[in-house]
Amino acid sequence: MTKRLALVTGGTTGIGASICMALKAGGYDVAANFIADEQQADDFAKETGVSVYQWDVSDFDQCASGVKKVCADFGTNIEVLVNNAGITCDHMLHKMARADWDAVMSVDLGACFNMSRAVIGEMRDKEFGRIISISSINAQLGQIGQANYSAAKAGVIGFTKSLARESATKNITVNAVAPGYTDTAMVQTMPEEVLKAMISQVPMGRLARPDEIARAVAFLTADESGFITGQTLSINGGHYM
Ligand code: NAI
Repeated sequence: MTKRLALVTGGTTGIGASICMALKAGGYDVAANFIADEQQADDFAKETGVSVYQWDVSDFDQCASGVKKVCADFGTNIEVLVNNAGITCDHMLHKMARADWDAVMSVDLGACFNMSRAVIGEMRDKEFGRIISISSINAQLGQIGQANYSAAKAGVIGFTKSLARESATKNITVNAVAPGYTDTAMVQTMPEEVLKAMISQVPMGRLARPDEIARAVAFLTADESGFITGQTLSINGGHYM
């Protein structure tokens, strides 16, 4: 059998980079999308053999043309899509600008639509697909300063369930992974005392490693996971149960 092709958005850093590595180790051809820092993306490509493609996942047309290019380069359709790209713009709601709301909605939730829309037709035609979107523990818990982020990441879960229902008879599974606080650049920007207080609430008393999140994604992509759909797999050291 030829290798399946996987595409990971925001795949050159943090959790996305670990997902790329886990899928590569699992025998997939892997393409990673990125938005900025071409040098870092090129270095990642050289080190890992993952092909990198630059576009903004919040832009519908760029997603369509990006997917088209990846498929043309590999000569096949995308069978595994991982919607991983995400941003935060944290502010208490009484100080949150409309632009902070819109930015997080369009990257963290809008991109799930843009990217899934770009790949779903061929998945339906070929009657196989895996779509996994990265939600967050803060969709489940709520978080001060993250009304935008929590809403977008909770939206990912609703999106996942509806698309799972639509796609089930076509052998396409659609799931979400909800990481707890994970040791990446996103968390390294948090003030130290806030981070310490947050870790003290995690029964396992530590951050997740990116590879621990990637493990769940790899599990859900497997052919053997074909009866798991519409689910949210939480990986948070017991922080939310
Ligand atoms: P990260 O900042 O290293 O990764 C996010 C990636 O998305 C970056 O490579 C970034 O360049 C890319 N990206 C952002 N906007 C983009 C756009 N418009 N188009 C294309 N790419 C774009 O952070 P991390 O932690 O690896 O985050 C990965 C995912 O995991 C995100 O969706 C995040 O919300 C989620 N998450 C992270 C947690 C954490 O504690 N680090 C906890 C729960 C969820």
